[in-house]
Amino acid sequence: MVPVRPIQIVPSVLPADFSRLGEECAALEAAGVDRIQWDVMDGVFVPNLTFGPDVVKACRRWATVPFEAHLMVSDPDLQLAAWVDAGCETLIVHAESVVHLHRTLGRVRELGASPGVALNPSTPVAAVEHVLDLVDMVLVMTVNPGFGGQAYIATMEPKIRALRSIYDGDIEVDGGIGPDTIAGAAAAGANWLVAGSALYRDPDGLEHAVKDLRARAASPSG
Ligand code: DX5
Repeated sequence: MVPVRPIQIVPSVLPADFSRLGEECAALEAAGVDRIQWDVMDGVFVPNLTFGPDVVKACRRWATVPFEAHLMVSDPDLQLAAWVDAGCETLIVHAESVVHLHRTLGRVRELGASPGVALNPSTPVAAVEHVLDLVDMVLVMTVNPGFGGQAYIATMEPKIRALRSIYDGDIEVDGGIGPDTIAGAAAAGANWLVAGSALYRDPDGLEHAVKDLRARAASPSG
């Protein structure tokens, strides 16, 4: 299935040099990425701990591309305003992380940010079918969240296809996206493709990796 929405290549900064995150954001923009994803982890919702709003805010001036906060946290309602203040245009809330998802997504919009909702691998599309009118994007996790460098879960492709059949907004995939997996995700209907390790391990550098992934996503049938 050809992507119905423009392809965007979205780096995760998880594999970047955390001692130089500002410069790393500038390098990602120079390499041609469309937006930058911040993998926010609180050590409770996922077994890893990364960065808070102040770190992202400090990096905001280093790049002009949109920032999105992937909130892998146990109580995102407490932090929404802080992520908007940090300069994140999109806030992605996990459906599994809140009791009142409809209300939380409405609050993101009220704060002036673009709401997104994320689904862990075991969470069905049905969990978000009644909030699709509130979001600008849906993130389908293709790994169990918490760490970069994991293997792509190809059994998520029917789920992406099912979501695309009822949703014509942006569908993002995150986890194990690389040269060998991006075409399958795009063919299933994803058009925002998050890559971390695949970008940083390309021996020809970030710019090559971005161009290669974009080409593979744009023509998934090869
Ligand atoms: C998982 C993270 C990773 C990361 C991308 O919680 O969200 O998916 O962004 O990591 P790679 O591209 O290395 O799988």
